[in-house]
Amino acid sequence: MKNFINNIPKAELHLHIEGTFEPELMFEIAKRNQIEIPFSSIEEIKAAYEFDCLQDFLDIYYQGANVLIKEKDFYDLTYSYLEKCAVQNVRHTEIMFDPQTHTDRGISFETVILGISNAMKDAKENLNVSSLLIMSYLRHLSEAAAFKTLEASLPFKHLITAVGLDSSEKGNPPSKFKNVFKASIQEGYIPLAHAGEEGNADYVWEAIDILGIKRIDHGNNSLQDPKLVEAIVSRDLALTVCPLSNTALQVVDDLKNHPLKEMMELGLKVTVNSDDPAYFGGQINKNFSAIQNALTLSKEEIYQLCKNSFEYSLLDKDSKEKHLTELTSFYNTNR
Ligand code: HPA
Ligand code: ZN
Repeated sequence: MKNFINNIPKAELHLHIEGTFEPELMFEIAKRNQIEIPFSSIEEIKAAYEFDCLQDFLDIYYQGANVLIKEKDFYDLTYSYLEKCAVQNVRHTEIMFDPQTHTDRGISFETVILGISNAMKDAKENLNVSSLLIMSYLRHLSEAAAFKTLEASLPFKHLITAVGLDSSEKGNPPSKFKNVFKASIQEGYIPLAHAGEEGNADYVWEAIDILGIKRIDHGNNSLQDPKLVEAIVSRDLALTVCPLSNTALQVVDDLKNHPLKEMMELGLKVTVNSDDPAYFGGQINKNFSAIQNALTLSKEEIYQLCKNSFEYSLLDKDSKEKHLTELTSFYNTNR
């Protein structure tokens, strides 16, 4: 089963580039930028990664991002993640980035996006991993601030496919960003959002009805409301589920109680993702192995999850078909 999980072609649809920042690289970049970090060793950093809730994690995650200054820093961060994709048979990935985490520290939008997108271009060529970008608005900040970010993104519109909504969910409902999502859609960005991770089912309703999102990041708390589940199924919206993130942030107490299988049985289109792999204890294949083991998922269920990852990606029809053909042929020879 382990080999099957490692080798099966897959796409990752929920990944924050700032959350891929491994302690080793953080030290290296901090050193070359001559920035002090409040840890003296890699072990010390790892020991700090114990979280009670989303906010606990976010405080450390934003602190880690402080050492990213130059275009090369963003390039190295992104390329290092894409190398991990290649060895895990991730054929395609949809990368979220948080411009405000950087622009609010005086780093230009251009520095961030050129570093990230040049790494994406090189990885396509050198590693055969395709990727696209989701610009995420920080929901603990104002809608006006999100509008400024939208504005800053426009010269780089050709490099961005979608917009997302992340950071502290409770108290920051999707409706707060109604106007900026409307404007983002008018600019041609596809709307996506985190919803129902810590927020309740009403937040998911708002995300689908008010923001008009095309895919739900996390979505766990949708299960609180059978009518919502029905709506998500009938509107054919996928959920980007992140098992190890859910246990790390205590959204789920134990992987054995994770709702992933129940979601699948309800007809929800589920995908498996790593969210912030450097912080939550594992890359995508570790997420697959852990949830497979906890819920005794069959090869057929793993195949279905990977199939969903391509079908509910933002790729064009031809690319989806190419990946699905490869996936099905893998499954038929390894089932
Ligand atoms: N939830 C909300 N915001 C985030 C997350 C998450 O899991 N990861 C990075 N930003
Ligand atoms: Zn996330």
